[in-house]
Amino acid sequence: MSLICPSILSADFSKLGEEVEDVLKGGADWIHYDVMDGRFVPNISIGIPVLKSLSKAVKAFYDVHLMIEEPHRYVNDFAKAGADLISFHVEAEADCSGTIDLIHSHGIKAGIVIKPDTPAKEVFPYLNKVDMVLVMTVEPGFGGQSFKQEMCSKICDIREEAIRIGRDDLLIEVDGGIASDTVGYTSAAGANVFVAGSSIFGEKDRAAAITGIRDAADAPLMHQC
Ligand code: DX5
Ligand code: ZN
Repeated sequence: MSLICPSILSADFSKLGEEVEDVLKGGADWIHYDVMDGRFVPNISIGIPVLKSLSKAVKAFYDVHLMIEEPHRYVNDFAKAGADLISFHVEAEADCSGTIDLIHSHGIKAGIVIKPDTPAKEVFPYLNKVDMVLVMTVEPGFGGQSFKQEMCSKICDIREEAIRIGRDDLLIEVDGGIASDTVGYTSAAGANVFVAGSSIFGEKDRAAAITGIRDAADAPLMHQC
């Protein structure tokens, strides 16, 4: 099972609702919503009020990726604004376990995110608690960057550890530079949730772009593990 999640960071924000409708019509499974604070990452994107309006106007599964310092401070607000899953960075939070519990207390899914330079073992203590691990395949902060193929061994390590502890159901999401020519490396390594910004919103025919990524994900390129 592959889930395809267009990242609205690359959408036309002047018509965000229509853009989201378009990718849903084109077969998107989830909508990936990137939140940046200008501190954890050197960029600022969108926040709580936009999610509130969007989730009210367009029904979808909202996969919220927090790229902010001390994310626990905003979990309640994003949950109330319509998040279906909240992921936060292991590098940005002192109490990861407490933050996972806080997210779950809203009856939604919790994810933990790991930057390219952070070793896989940093998320191992939380694998028994989270619904998903998001492995960044670029440095967080901007859309349109090149895919880091070397992240695939990290995906393998996390998938292997998840299986070892009996968490075969753990979702592993990848984010950054995902397109039809890169996604197959990540699915071979064990990822099953695929975020794509520019390779979907940058295309006129979003349905074709989504199908292309899904087909490529289901045809792993090489076995990495
Ligand atoms: C980057 C964001 C991504 C971004 C991906 O920090 O987390 O979700 O939108 O963009 P692409 O798919 O263009 O690399
Ligand atoms: Zn993201």
